[in-house]
Amino acid sequence: MSLREPITRHFGYDIPIRLMNLTGGGPDTFEPMCEFHMAALKEHTPIDPDHAVLEIGCGIGRDAIPLTNVLSAKGSYIGVDIVKDSIRWCSDNITVRHPNFKFVHFDIGDQLHNPGGTMRTTDVRLPPPDASIDRIILWSVFTHMRKVDIAHYLREFARVLKPTGTAFATWFIVNDEILAKARTVNLTPFNLRFEHVLEEGCLINDPKSPMGAVAYIDTEMQALVASSGLEVVGDVLPGQWSGYFDIPKGGQDATILRRKR
Ligand SMILES: C[S@@+](CC[C@H](N)C(=O)[O-])C[C@H]1O[C@@H](n2cnc3c(N)ncnc32)[C@H](O)[C@@H]1O
Repeated sequence: MSLREPITRHFGYDIPIRLMNLTGGGPDTFEPMCEFHMAALKEHTPIDPDHAVLEIGCGIGRDAIPLTNVLSAKGSYIGVDIVKDSIRWCSDNITVRHPNFKFVHFDIGDQLHNPGGTMRTTDVRLPPPDASIDRIILWSVFTHMRKVDIAHYLREFARVLKPTGTAFATWFIVNDEILAKARTVNLTPFNLRFEHVLEEGCLINDPKSPMGAVAYIDTEMQALVASSGLEVVGDVLPGQWSGYFDIPKGGQDATILRRKR
């Protein structure tokens, strides 16, 4: 990372624009998205000051930075990502101010975020010990992943979550009606039509960039979760992206998961 590269300043942090752009959002949306993320977590899976939090796909700290105002010194946060420079930036800028916030890089190969990566997601053992985590967060990560890799992470979540813990994950979750509506209204700038089958129950938007946007049929998502030792708590939290649900705010769909009871 060059010291002179363009940066954008938010909440007292100078963040490289190049790394921010790898998260799917730029400087204009960073702060509103931080606020939206925190409000959604507060409403659906509140984080207590002493909680142990794990985030997968933490990027440049869109959640970690605001969570420094939520977690106490007794709480802890671990952010995992596959972009080495982002993890280095988070460690150099967030961990130095908040030592209970740690960041871990996995060199997982990914067409979009880490093309030269040498590992597979299925090689990863997440850092926390068994049954130690209160909250897991994933924003816009399963929306770029294949079934085998999601299944691996879900099994890891079942391992690291406390019996009372929950995981909040966003997805594109579809059925025939949702797909029909999305293709008619085309609400997002990404022309999300999901017309190509990647594997059973899994649709992609653009065969030239298969991992650019990945959707799951609702029954497939439920089967993936159930086969990993987790369960979906309540209903899927619908997003606005498809135009199918008449809701005031929100992009992707989300699920709250917990260990099967
Ligand atoms: C669309 S970005 C979202 C970043 C962040 N969650 C946010 O909302 O700002 C997806 C993130 O997931 C990371 N990612 C992709 N595949 C991953 C994997 N297999 N394990 C961990 N992180 C992954 C990417 O490097 C990227 O930072």
